[in-house]
Amino acid sequence: MSQPTIESILQEKRLFPPDSDFSQNAHIKSLADYQGLYDRAKADPQQFWAELAENELHWFQKWDTVLDWQPPFVKWFVNGKINISYNCLDRHLTTWRKNKAALIWEGEPGDSRTLTYSQLHREVCQFANVLKQLGAKKGDRIGIYMPMIPEAAIAMLACARIGAPHSVVFGGFSAEALRDRLNDAEAKIVITADGGWRKDAIVPLKEQVDKALENNAVPSITDVLVVKRTNQTIQMAAGRDHWWHDLQKGVSADCSPEPMDSEDMLFVLYTSGSTGKPKGVVHTTGGYNLYSHITTKWIFDLQDTDVYWCTADVGWITGHSYIVYGPLSNGATTVMYEGAPRASNPGCFWDVIAKYGVTIFYTAPTAIRAFIKMGEHHPKSRNLSSLRLLGTVGEPINPEAWMWYQKVIGGERCPIVDTWWQTETGGIMITPLPGAIPTKPGSATLPFPGIIADVVDLEGNTVPDNEGGYLAIRHPWPGMMRTVYGDPERFRRTYWEHIPPTDGKYTYFAGDGARKDEDGYFWVMGRVDDVLNVSGHRLGTMEVESALVSHPAVAEAAVVGKPDELKGEEVVAFVTLEGTYQASEELSKELKKHVVSEIGAIARPGEIRFTDALPKTRSGKIMRRLLRNLASGQEVSGDTSTLEDRSVLDKLREGA
Ligand code: WTA
Repeated sequence: MSQPTIESILQEKRLFPPDSDFSQNAHIKSLADYQGLYDRAKADPQQFWAELAENELHWFQKWDTVLDWQPPFVKWFVNGKINISYNCLDRHLTTWRKNKAALIWEGEPGDSRTLTYSQLHREVCQFANVLKQLGAKKGDRIGIYMPMIPEAAIAMLACARIGAPHSVVFGGFSAEALRDRLNDAEAKIVITADGGWRKDAIVPLKEQVDKALENNAVPSITDVLVVKRTNQTIQMAAGRDHWWHDLQKGVSADCSPEPMDSEDMLFVLYTSGSTGKPKGVVHTTGGYNLYSHITTKWIFDLQDTDVYWCTADVGWITGHSYIVYGPLSNGATTVMYEGAPRASNPGCFWDVIAKYGVTIFYTAPTAIRAFIKMGEHHPKSRNLSSLRLLGTVGEPINPEAWMWYQKVIGGERCPIVDTWWQTETGGIMITPLPGAIPTKPGSATLPFPGIIADVVDLEGNTVPDNEGGYLAIRHPWPGMMRTVYGDPERFRRTYWEHIPPTDGKYTYFAGDGARKDEDGYFWVMGRVDDVLNVSGHRLGTMEVESALVSHPAVAEAAVVGKPDELKGEEVVAFVTLEGTYQASEELSKELKKHVVSEIGAIARPGEIRFTDALPKTRSGKIMRRLLRNLASGQEVSGDTSTLEDRSVLDKLREGA
């Protein structure tokens, strides 16, 4: 029941039109309204985005050109001056929202904290001054490696306030992974915590930071800031490490926001690709602010009374756009939860919803599948009647899980927005607008106004309805990534050359397979490249392979995904051993541990298969397609004539 298949999709005919009460009060009230917006945006994208930028955001100085598109490099709102922390905080202080809850936080052990807009503003300003005192200047990159605590959002907003791009690294990544990212970004400061709570255990974040910085391994780092969260003993390096609360003491709460150029970098966020090391996806200020703002407003149909909760981690793009920037820019109340459903408390999400009266709930299909397994009695024994809208993100959702979500969590009254997008797109691209677009279980439905999405072949031709192809975007949009940090050629190669430009027209290649049905609805099928999606997290097969071959026992490794009921995909590694090493259960365990220490727990292989040789073509390329078949226990399909040594395949089959 994990990934949707083409057959199941073609059979899926259920249609759920928006409820008329919901539509009446929604920002976008009907399919005709959506169509009107879509057509207008398509006919004159610059006018469409400029109007929104003008009406929805505060600018210190207006832009003089809306769009400067020199493919594949784009600039939006050229010469505009803006600060996203101003848009997320200051502008609400002159309204009734001043004392509205901006951030409601719930810690895993049950502690909690609420910050109003005025309080959050104060904290952000103070902390921005702390950063300045440490010498942080506009343009300096700052690493953030934190648990899900308010200080994570405060740190992001403080960086944005002084114009220092942040690079948030998910707290589940290992010291090695952190070190690589901090080095690539040449970060000057890293902000962390003594630890964070995750599934009843402490994640030793500061210890990982120490390991990452050992032997001056990240020479650009001058200071480490540490939030006290879990209170266990940690080492503090004199001169380098400082407690957040010590430095914040007595610091002024007056900090004017740096007027940023629209195209000044707001953040770099690392994500996995099919080749090489993770790439730093660069987002800039003006376009990202607008895109995260307007998508949050229309897709989650934000109203002033909403209590909005996105369960992602700020270490991922979803946390950036839909926990922090989008909701706060709209003056909404955003909930942040430190923990995760765990054996000792499988109903914790439902408790959070009941406790705060959450109205909008946004989570991942992998979580929904886990909830189904845990049993209906957990949500059913809580009061979830405050909910009015549900969302999903991160991977295709199978129709069964969609129906369960709709029935058990949504009480058959909440629309579901299945939102397709990527780290690179900055915000949601294909999605229902909940008051306007009838939903079909398993389909992300239609493109957001201003997004020209298509399903194409590798020449860039639109493929016929209901035929598989590559998901592509035809026109630039304000939230799109600007480049790969420090590697513009990789940006061009990765996203703009799979489909060769024709007549000077460039097409963005998303790396996903998709089909469009006769109603124009998109059905995203999953990655078409060597990127895995494990529990909604992106993972490059190459990353895991490099981690494996860095172990002395491993000669060669090939990693593929195997469909998994809960996680979507599971990592399976085929490994050949060096010289005298022998395959054993212990070695398998050790290699799994090694991958965890190189990358993080999300990359832990579910299975290691030892083999004498890997199936290769005559030119030496590993035939992953065969390995994927083997991993999932299918018959090897397709052409095997290019295989160099057929006996390798037979042995692998026997081994399985
Ligand atoms: C997948 C997460 C199907 C897709 C925001 C994409 C989805 C990758 C959906 C990006 C969805 C995300 N339906 N697939 N609604 N949402 N994906 O960069 O394969 O972590 O390319 O961004 O997740 O993952 P990323």
